[in-house]
Amino acid sequence: MKIALIPGDGIGPEIIKQALKVLDAVSNKYNVEFTYEEVLMGGIAIDETGVPLPEETLKVCKKSDAVLLGAVGGEKWDNLPGHLRPETGLLGLRKALGVFANLRPAILFPQLKEASTLKEEVLGDGLNVMVVRELTGGLYFGEKKRVGQGNSQKAWDTMIYSVEEIERITRVAFELAMNRNKKLTSVDKANVLESSRLWREVVTKVAEDYPEVTVNHMYVDNAAMQLIRNPKQFDVIVTENMFGDILSDEASMLTGSLGMLPSASLGKENPGLYEPVHGSAPDIAGQDKANPIATIMSVAMMLRHSGGMEDAARDIENAVSKVLDMGYRTGDIMQPGMKQVGTEKMGELIAGEI
Ligand code: IPM
Ligand code: MG
Repeated sequence: MKIALIPGDGIGPEIIKQALKVLDAVSNKYNVEFTYEEVLMGGIAIDETGVPLPEETLKVCKKSDAVLLGAVGGEKWDNLPGHLRPETGLLGLRKALGVFANLRPAILFPQLKEASTLKEEVLGDGLNVMVVRELTGGLYFGEKKRVGQGNSQKAWDTMIYSVEEIERITRVAFELAMNRNKKLTSVDKANVLESSRLWREVVTKVAEDYPEVTVNHMYVDNAAMQLIRNPKQFDVIVTENMFGDILSDEASMLTGSLGMLPSASLGKENPGLYEPVHGSAPDIAGQDKANPIATIMSVAMMLRHSGGMEDAARDIENAVSKVLDMGYRTGDIMQPGMKQVGTEKMGELIAGEI
């Protein structure tokens, strides 16, 4: 399997290093070969090449089987104009790879119940919500502009969706629901936004093809509230790009920490893009404090969706669970009586269990 590696900025390089330990373990166990090509994106690419997403990076990613990304961004590049920000590189990569379906599973390991900010009675004996975020359209990619000078400036962003864009993400969500608890919640703001009214119409139409799936529609403000009030009501959530960005961070706290949430971004033919949901956390970069589990779980998703290696994916997920069983925790999920370890040690322990 040919993997393009983008360590990126902040904690990116140190978490990617742990992912590689896990891939080495899988390689030994299953006798498969992974080849890596490391490329630049984000702040480090700006520093070294002047742009956040160099042509070369795109070329390498496109001819790989999968792209594994750490994180991008940091204060150092925060004041650059929009088109030169690290985040613009990430959005450009998602768009160029055509990875419109962003799968963000929020799974609560029972061992981490106490690390969640929610009460035990709300979480029950575990939780498994799949947020399916549309990733290459909507508010992030509609026309944006700033006009005027000083206090008379105006700026706008546009939330725009075509039927085709809504339909393809909806189908991905229904297919996932069919393999899970057959329950789909479509989140929109159809009481206010025209794009949401179209969204709702298309979801309703596609639903006819999946009579076994129970569908409900929820306004995004209500969904934000329901996720905290009664997260167990959700199985698969499908939503617009920006709504999904917000709701997936919220869903991550159900699992104890943003450091636990992996993601897979899939398109029609191009390689999938795999990255933790969290950012580059510059405040703890280089201190051996970052939780590598979100990235390691993203590796599991990569082997499952781009490598067709379901067994290896399960091995990784089980290894994470075992290491948690043994009481090892990084700082973000630390609880009294547990053993606190750093990034390196956590990676080593998980690889060891494989
Ligand atoms: C995410 C991140 C990105 C996004 C940023 C870094 C551009 O928040 O992957 O959720 O908004 O998509
Ligand atoms: Mg986000």
